[in-house]
Amino acid sequence: MERLKVEGEGGSEILLGIGLASLASLAPADRILVTDANVRHHWGHLMEGERVLEVGLGENAKTLSAVESLYEGLLRFEADRSTCIVGVGGGIVCDVAGFAASTYLRGLDFGFIATTLLAQVDASVGGKNGVNFHGLKNHVGIIRQPRFVACDFQCLETLPDREYASGLAELVKIAAIADASLFAFLEAQVEALRNRDRSCLEKAVARAVALKAHFVAVDEQERGERKKLNFGHTLGHALESHLGLRHGEAVSLGMVAAAELSVKRGLLAPHEAQRLTALLDRCGLPTRVALDLDALLPLMARDKKRQGRHLAFVLLQGLGHGVIQHLEVAELREALS
Ligand SMILES: NC(=O)c1ccc[n+]([C@@H]2O[C@H](COP(=O)([O-])OP(=O)(O)OC[C@H]3O[C@@H](n4cnc5c(N)ncnc54)[C@H](O)[C@@H]3O)[C@@H](O)[C@H]2O)c1
Ligand SMILES: [Zn+2]
Repeated sequence: MERLKVEGEGGSEILLGIGLASLASLAPADRILVTDANVRHHWGHLMEGERVLEVGLGENAKTLSAVESLYEGLLRFEADRSTCIVGVGGGIVCDVAGFAASTYLRGLDFGFIATTLLAQVDASVGGKNGVNFHGLKNHVGIIRQPRFVACDFQCLETLPDREYASGLAELVKIAAIADASLFAFLEAQVEALRNRDRSCLEKAVARAVALKAHFVAVDEQERGERKKLNFGHTLGHALESHLGLRHGEAVSLGMVAAAELSVKRGLLAPHEAQRLTALLDRCGLPTRVALDLDALLPLMARDKKRQGRHLAFVLLQGLGHGVIQHLEVAELREALS
């Protein structure tokens, strides 16, 4: 097992290679688990005797009413200030459970056992918790660090291929913005990664988590540097809600578009953009889609990172180096069409 620290307010500990089977050593006895039906179906035998609440499945379940249902469950279980909430699942479970825990009784302790690759490399680390609101992604939420995040590699065995590939997108993302050597590692090991080769996976997840922890440590409140983690997400979020794609699939398309914009601005060499597209392709992720700009641009214009007429857009200045540039919506339209 490997341990990493995330410096932030409260700080949290990331544990790699431990999980649900070691629940008792991860969380205090006064705990309530939050999970979803799929995780419970596969791994419920490791939750026997626990107090368990469920959130619904899919992006549409990430709502204030899901949070309210959790509050009702917490009330029913008579949770108090000493109760620890443990989210066991993917990004949806972590986002909703973290938000409910952060607001119930003005904030309970919480931790995550991340059971999807996406939650391990991204969603569970960094303390962003929240829900969608009126069709806007992650519009209501809070930044508050979990006590612990456990990346459970055993649970990944039952993760469907499409969900697994979606997680690979966030791995490629962090490599593209922050670590050229991780990018090269992913290129060299993509087959092994797709086959879920354990040692390869552990190396990649450990590096991704360390990089994410660094972004959080230098800029927990996302005033500057941390914004780079949104590479591929401005268009990605719009596509995710518009086309009903998995989060990572939408981010993959968003990254291809952002790389092309980077080439147009003279920041990225065309062959580097091609390397990114080829890697995403080999991960089994979508890299091409017909865009309905009239529907997408208004969605992008409502992005949280908008300031006036400008969108803070993450571009690449070479592979492994993200930069934030401001784009007008009109420029974006021209570039994307
Ligand atoms: N808070 C953050 O910093 C952050 C960062 C990135 C993404 N996110 C959010 O994360 C969400 C996506 O997360 P996700 O891709 O993990 O989705 P998810 O939580 O919906 O999980 C994907 C699917 O896999 C199932 N599943 C989970 N673990 C399983 C397992 N071990 N075996 C079998 N099935 C399993 C789930 O039930 C679900 O159907 C998005 O809402 C995104 O916005 C948040
Ligand atoms: Zn993401």
